[in-house]
Amino acid sequence: MTKIRIAVQKSGRLNQDSLKILKDCGISIDNGKDQLKATARNFPLEVFYLRNGDIPQYLRDGVVDIAILGENVLVEKGKDISIAEKLNFSKCRVSLAVPKSVEYKSVQDFEGKRIATSYPTTVKDYLASKGVNADLHIINGSVEIAPNIGLADGICDIVSSGSTLFKNNLKEVEVILKSEAVLAVSPKISTEREAILDKLRFRIQSVLEARN
Ligand code: PRP
Ligand code: MG
Repeated sequence: MTKIRIAVQKSGRLNQDSLKILKDCGISIDNGKDQLKATARNFPLEVFYLRNGDIPQYLRDGVVDIAILGENVLVEKGKDISIAEKLNFSKCRVSLAVPKSVEYKSVQDFEGKRIATSYPTTVKDYLASKGVNADLHIINGSVEIAPNIGLADGICDIVSSGSTLFKNNLKEVEVILKSEAVLAVSPKISTEREAILDKLRFRIQSVLEARN
């Protein structure tokens, strides 16, 4: 029997809530802890646990049919991939931040400055739209440490509760985008699997309505 293949974040902030929404849809997944693939018992679905940043490419290649991931990841790496549903969890912002001690006036203050980020395309596009030229340093995690160790003048990263910024003596100065978890669809999904997607979307919509 044909199954729809869904990518879910392997570890990190979306993982739990992604599995929870599938569960609330009445889909039971056997979860061997270290398994990277699991099959649903009562719905034609296979789950692939993948790294967040790799998911857009898997969708593009049609290796998975759908995925639950942060919209911010699509803005950064998957503008060509379409969103079927917004899922109303894992809400966050992608923002620019600078040390608290800096007297910040406007985005022009980033001209010629060094910005550490895991979201280079997002920052580059944003700064370009403001006519600002900055020097980007791409790092994959713990971005907020960069100004403290002299690597950068500012950062661009995800802000959720704001506690990571606070702990690192940084302040949010520009919100580039607002994001939440979404259900994204591969451009290569087959008609047969699209029919399964319709059933899943119907369940997701009911769950989201009930949650409101
Ligand atoms: C994420 C993100 C921010 C932080 C934002 O990092 O990169 O640093 O969470 O959340 P907050 O505003 O609630 O503090 P994460 O802890 O996932 O680690 P990483 O950056 O090392 O991947
Ligand atoms: Mg972080």
